[in-house]
Amino acid sequence: MKIFSVEFVKSCLAPDDYPEGDFPEIAFVGRSNVGKSSVINALLGQRRIARVSSTPGKTRLIYFFRVNKALHFVDLPGYGYARVPKDIKASWAPSIEYYLKQRRQLRGVVLLLDARHPPTDLDLQMKAWLEAAGIRFLVVITKIDKISQGDQRKTLEGHRAALGLSSTLLVFPFSAKTGAGKDLLWRSIERLLAHPSSRYSA
Ligand code: GTP
Ligand code: MG
Repeated sequence: MKIFSVEFVKSCLAPDDYPEGDFPEIAFVGRSNVGKSSVINALLGQRRIARVSSTPGKTRLIYFFRVNKALHFVDLPGYGYARVPKDIKASWAPSIEYYLKQRRQLRGVVLLLDARHPPTDLDLQMKAWLEAAGIRFLVVITKIDKISQGDQRKTLEGHRAALGLSSTLLVFPFSAKTGAGKDLLWRSIERLLAHPSSRYSA
């Protein structure tokens, strides 16, 4: 996709504060520090519109970005980071779940996994939950630049098998550092956007 405009819309947690309008949305989910904000920046050709940090747990709200005045990218808080204070953490899981379940504009989810680590129980739960909720999703293996060329195939296959995905489902290698995988991921996101929302087509 050719990007001609990117705007930060707002960050919030409460559903009443979600932006209004009918822009279709693609949400990015995954463990804290997996690289969600970095993938968003890379896809949008921005250096730091989404805040990136080496300290896990930085993205604590839901961030909405408007792309080409036509769609939203949604950066959700990362899950699974133990050192976040309990009360903050307790407000996230329901917030993420509420957004994913209720957001009429949601067209699909990008689920991110770190190339260097096997999926955690929380990743497996998220994948099962997305399937049960009937939400279309893509799996992106981030930080692929940290894996040697020769091991990349094995890594993708290992993650695919650990998630229990059928071989027909694509698992996308990606590097926010080198830009590897960007065009392929964009094409798949465009395919998600082309579908009407399966859950709210009434
Ligand atoms: P939270 O907001 O805390 O949930 O994290 P996040 O998932 O948004 O991760 P973020 O994009 O902030 O990246 C976390 C760290 O990983 C940062 O230090 C990034 O520079 C690094 N990182 C992200 N993507 C890549 C990548 O593709 N390659 C390499 N080498 N490092 C990456
Ligand atoms: Mg983030």
